[in-house]
Amino acid sequence: MTQDELFKVLVAHCKEYGFIFPSSEIYDGLAAVYDYGQMGVQLKNNIKNYWWEAMTRLNENIVGIDSAIFMHPRIWEASGHVGAFNDPLIDNKDSKKRYRADVLIEDYLGKIEEKIEKEVAKGRKKFGEAFDEAQFRATNPNVLREQAKWDEVHNRYVAAEKANDFAEYRQIIIDCNIVCPISGTCNWTEVRQFNLMFSTSMGSTADGANLIYLRPETAQGIFVNYLNVQKTGRMKIPFGIAQIGKAFRNEIVARQFIFRMREFEQMEMQFFIKPGTELEWFKKWKETRMKWHVNLGMGAENYRFHDHEKLAHYANAATDIEFNFPFGFKELEGIHSRTNFDLGNHQKFSGKKIEYFDPEENTSYTPYVIETSIGVDRMVLAVLSHAYTVEELEGGDSRVVLKIPAPLAPIKVAVMPLVKKDGLPEVAQKVVDELKYDFSYQYDEKDSIGKRYRRQDAIGTPFCVTIDHDTLNDGMVTVRERDTMQQERVKIEDLRALIEKKVSLTNLLRNL
Ligand code: GAP
Repeated sequence: MTQDELFKVLVAHCKEYGFIFPSSEIYDGLAAVYDYGQMGVQLKNNIKNYWWEAMTRLNENIVGIDSAIFMHPRIWEASGHVGAFNDPLIDNKDSKKRYRADVLIEDYLGKIEEKIEKEVAKGRKKFGEAFDEAQFRATNPNVLREQAKWDEVHNRYVAAEKANDFAEYRQIIIDCNIVCPISGTCNWTEVRQFNLMFSTSMGSTADGANLIYLRPETAQGIFVNYLNVQKTGRMKIPFGIAQIGKAFRNEIVARQFIFRMREFEQMEMQFFIKPGTELEWFKKWKETRMKWHVNLGMGAENYRFHDHEKLAHYANAATDIEFNFPFGFKELEGIHSRTNFDLGNHQKFSGKKIEYFDPEENTSYTPYVIETSIGVDRMVLAVLSHAYTVEELEGGDSRVVLKIPAPLAPIKVAVMPLVKKDGLPEVAQKVVDELKYDFSYQYDEKDSIGKRYRRQDAIGTPFCVTIDHDTLNDGMVTVRERDTMQQERVKIEDLRALIEKKVSLTNLLRNL
């Protein structure tokens, strides 16, 4: 299966098993908006809990808040979003489809990277043990040709990005012969700037005075509450404020399932520090956040940092944690050193003094900020795309299994009486009563055991517990583990501890 096909199959699987549905589907859907189903919401909540507890429980100097989505419109002038939160758009004149010019170029660069990696993989296969990757990259003519192409386009792109030179974006697209995937032509319009904020009106009239925005990031709700939290929590710098909440962006290129949505959720943390210490804290938060990801066991090789060459209007250092999605390495989380840009501007725009009095140094200053910002939905996609596995079984059969990290799995245990008679359902019900206070579970007594296992594999349930006739005599049940499919007989009273060991969020947090 190609990565493209795998992605399509994953989207269908998410719908079929109650993870993610297109929004408003019976009205033919709403572009780039999705609903979470009965499985998806549990996976999402588990991800949010892992983040929330790692931030607010494991760091005694980080507290959480929940600010409103509606905020005073001046906030978005102070933050720079009204003036500068734009995407460079380009239209194909034949298909009339609209694209982000920067994404077209980045995808083109990504394809060259893929070609290089394929060549390297071929070399590795051909030379086996004796393969010297550095030498291969430095001498193989195909790699050198592709690398030279990549360097040239990348240099032009970075220069255009820095200079906000949109005519050059278009020229790169034309020179590289990047075509519209729908029309297949290179007949492009000029590149234009498009503001991403959604607006609505508040109150009974719809005149300009009541225009407000749906927040495009949760961070500003933290900045405008800096004084409230610092004072009421008696927080001392360095300290952080964490928040999980919805954000809204009128994204134009929106064809990557839940990777780029118009309504999505962010988990953001602003860490307030003394000016001059930002690079040290930036490094610390890069390490901390990478550890959080790798701790899930989805393979350290599937993450990488991508340092920004062009910095956002508020940042003096920035990096992305990229994940190896089915469509290549893409941004999962952003870590930004935001200086005192936001607090400084809110001070200017609101006229309120926003400072910190440092008792040790007997001075006041406007704190600097390191921000970590991750999209919940992107994290859901990372987990699902990594988890989706098709396995060939003995006897020519195959199974689809979601190998979701066990503490994040929507359902932790399935309880199944072998047959619907002979008192087995009653014992199964007792097992449910034993487990339900600690674990999300499903009770299933329909179809053959094999079919029931497949259903649980498809939603990523780490354990299936079967009650059979022997259980009536020996009080033992069969526990089947999702990934290995291995089965063992376990006493009913030992079940809780066995499941807990593998699915516990506490254990996951302890490993951080
Ligand atoms: N406060 C900083 C900020 O919002 P960002 O890089 O624009 O920075 C942070 O967004 C994270 O939010 C991204 O790394 C991504 O995971 C997520 N995100 C951004 N736009 C998104 C969208 N349209 N759909 C889903 N997730 C998105």
